[in-house]
Amino acid sequence: QMKVTKICCIGAGYVGGPTMAVIAKKNPNITVTVVDVNQDRIDAWNNADVNNLPIYEPGLAQIVKETRGKNLFFSTEIDKTIDESEMIFISVNTPTKTYGKGKGMAADLKYVELCARNIAKVATTNKIVVEKSTLPVRTAQAIKSILDNTGSDVKFSILSNPEFLAEGTAIQDLINPDRVLIGGEFEDAIEVLANIYASWVPQDKILRTNVWSSELSKLTANAFLAQRISSINAISELCEKTEANVNEVAKAIGMDSRIGPKFLKASVGFGGSCFQKDILNLVYIARSYNLHEVADYWEQVTLFNDHQKRRFADHIVNTLYNTVSGKKIGFLGWAFKKDTNDTRESAAIYVADYLLNEQASISVYDPKVPAKKMQSDLNYLNTRSVSENEQQVTVFSNPYEALKDTHAVAILTEWDEFKSYDWNKIYVNMKKPAFIFDGRNLLDKTEMIKIGFEYSSIGQ
Ligand code: NAD
Ligand code: UDX
Repeated sequence: QMKVTKICCIGAGYVGGPTMAVIAKKNPNITVTVVDVNQDRIDAWNNADVNNLPIYEPGLAQIVKETRGKNLFFSTEIDKTIDESEMIFISVNTPTKTYGKGKGMAADLKYVELCARNIAKVATTNKIVVEKSTLPVRTAQAIKSILDNTGSDVKFSILSNPEFLAEGTAIQDLINPDRVLIGGEFEDAIEVLANIYASWVPQDKILRTNVWSSELSKLTANAFLAQRISSINAISELCEKTEANVNEVAKAIGMDSRIGPKFLKASVGFGGSCFQKDILNLVYIARSYNLHEVADYWEQVTLFNDHQKRRFADHIVNTLYNTVSGKKIGFLGWAFKKDTNDTRESAAIYVADYLLNEQASISVYDPKVPAKKMQSDLNYLNTRSVSENEQQVTVFSNPYEALKDTHAVAILTEWDEFKSYDWNKIYVNMKKPAFIFDGRNLLDKTEMIKIGFEYSSIGQ
């Protein structure tokens, strides 16, 4: 069996960085080099201060501190690292296409294909190529075809090894995964990768499947998870009309062991770089096989999520006497979930955009997201000019400052620290009546009403 002494991972992002840090920590005899075309990102990974890495994940800084410079490296020397390594992970982004055929639906595979071509060009010895990125079912075929047509006699084995970590808990998820999934054609290549995980993952949690099952399982897992959120969010709207309480309903159904208690938290809507992208991709694939009922079924999960975000913003406007023009709304949270600095597809961006269209001014506090990022998220939507966004949105590094003189507070992210704020003090400094729109059902309703707030949340 081939012995792996050097691993290359292409893509130093939210998946590549943490995953390789854990592989390096658990396999001290393997040298792991994470490469990227983005020099700034690589520089940030090499930052002497591990508290300034490009990605914030609880526990990540400590592992990087232990392994970096020993058997974990970050570099822009892509070609050299590829050729020196026996195993190459492709962990680049696969965003929704913004152009051409499948625009707004299909996954854009150009970065993955560039990686395959890069590997084909520079490899002089046999390689195992691992798809770590989330890819449409049957992508491995395209990669194989590129790698098999180089004209050299270098042999490539392709494995699918999708990543199931969630942001904010990436390290925990990597160290103690529910399962590791490896899809492949040849047993020997599968076992080489399985051995690397076996350094810390029990064998019975390392699943071996064919490549296509592995690729499709990743899209399916995300579709099922997102589906639970849209399902409970749909019930939350019904709760608001019927005096049922969605937290109570979620608890009651979650105790049914067939349903289970996780991922039943009603919210302003799911965000993140994966759920929407992967469902749209699944829908696109189904349509491409003329499976329109399958496509429509899953598409509803994202359509309902759009509705939930819109509904939250509309509720703010309606409650504030049908106008927020010239009013100040304080946002707590901008990240798509707690314990991450990632804002991709965050509900906060869309809620802000709706409210800005209604001429509100917004003041924001988030513990980990920099002001520049918030502005660029809004500018990316192209709804208004850069200077209008700068004028209408002010970012604060202190939550009490952000909420001063606001007409309403909107909670967009479930950061723990929001719960322990001095809400009496916040109340005193707000315009009256003082409204809270709790998009995460985070605060204690009774307590907020006692303080004097007009409090509303999701599904209660
Ligand atoms: P990311 O955008 O954070 O990182 C991708 C990196 O790849 C970027 O730094 C980019 O510069 C680099 N890159 C792109 N093309 C390159 C090339 N040709 N050569 C070298 N570097 C290149 O993305 P991410 O969140 O880490 O996601 C990566 C993949 O993992 C996606 O397919 C995603 O769907 C999947 N995934 C993500 C998560 C998550 O929670 N973010 C979880 C599971 C799976
Ligand atoms: C998700 C998958 O969970 C993970 O397995 C996959 O590898 C990548 O995509 P991630 O997007 O990082 O992970 O975070 P996740 O915890 O799934 O949350 C996604 C969104 O759903 C967040 O906006 C979160 O706030 C929201 N959510 C989650 C809810 O609104 N309610 C819930 O009950 C759970």
